[in-house]
Amino acid sequence: MKVITSIREMTRFSENLRCQGRTIAFVPTMGYLHEGHLALMAEGKTKADHLVVSIFVNPAQFGPSEDFSTYPRAMEQDLEQCRTIGADTVFTPDSDIYPAGFQTYVELEKLPLHLCGLSRPVFFKGVATVVTKLFNIVNPHFALFGEKDYQQLAIIRQLVIDLNFDITVVGVPIVREPDGLAKSSRNKYLTQKERPHALLLYRSIQAAEKMVKDGEIDAQKIVDAATEILLSCPDITVDYVSICDPVTLDGVTSIQGKVLMAVAVWLGKTRLIDNRMLVVPHTPE
Ligand code: PAJ
Repeated sequence: MKVITSIREMTRFSENLRCQGRTIAFVPTMGYLHEGHLALMAEGKTKADHLVVSIFVNPAQFGPSEDFSTYPRAMEQDLEQCRTIGADTVFTPDSDIYPAGFQTYVELEKLPLHLCGLSRPVFFKGVATVVTKLFNIVNPHFALFGEKDYQQLAIIRQLVIDLNFDITVVGVPIVREPDGLAKSSRNKYLTQKERPHALLLYRSIQAAEKMVKDGEIDAQKIVDAATEILLSCPDITVDYVSICDPVTLDGVTSIQGKVLMAVAVWLGKTRLIDNRMLVVPHTPE
């Protein structure tokens, strides 16, 4: 496995692969890898000849009061996991991603004005900017993103269309712990006392799913029931519980066809998100 730290070298290497007629799948990450990231890599390997994984904790996507400095990092362990899963190249760019004088950002007009974008105003500008830069540097044929960060995936799909990237974006289903908690690098922050409460996100989504299965179509009733489940734990603060259109992310009042249910909470000092598609029974997908 090749490890590249220089932007120039990554670009040349990728150009070389393309000249040889080889296809590239790309998995961007911020490291502290877990089975969710590994699922993206495994899927990437089925899509192309060469798998590039990037590991970069992107300062531009953290707000001033967020956890950039404490975000978990474990480079050696991460490289070992990439090696084991069969990544071909790991790109770990250095501080050159944002050199002195940097001032060009990528910002979407509408999709960030929903869900996580409301409480994390700089987040998607930082994500869209770094992913655009990484796409330019790695120039992949395929890019893989997790459905765990559903809004991020929607934003990248839109960005690829709007900026004419010739890249196929592939969404990969959420990987969960055996009890249902969505895997996340931030789960490391949870204390032993908090960990069981983290399961309430998944429980609230399962309850919503059951209500839809039993015929409920009033989105507000489902949001209220899910919120009540979350608030049964006094350490949880709800950021949002949303039932929305899976493409525009606009809220819906009545559930028809396929809608996205997305939740975000603070459990103590840890922000957790989860989502699932709710499908009205007997509606063709
Ligand atoms: P990070 O949080 O490291 O996640 C990297 C990728 O792994 C994202 O596409 C994310 O959706 C996916 N992922 C994380 N947990 C997952 C899970 N439980 N199941 C499936 N996929 C999962 O997302 C980022 O980094 C950054 O914003 C990035 C895109 C790298 C830009 O900096």
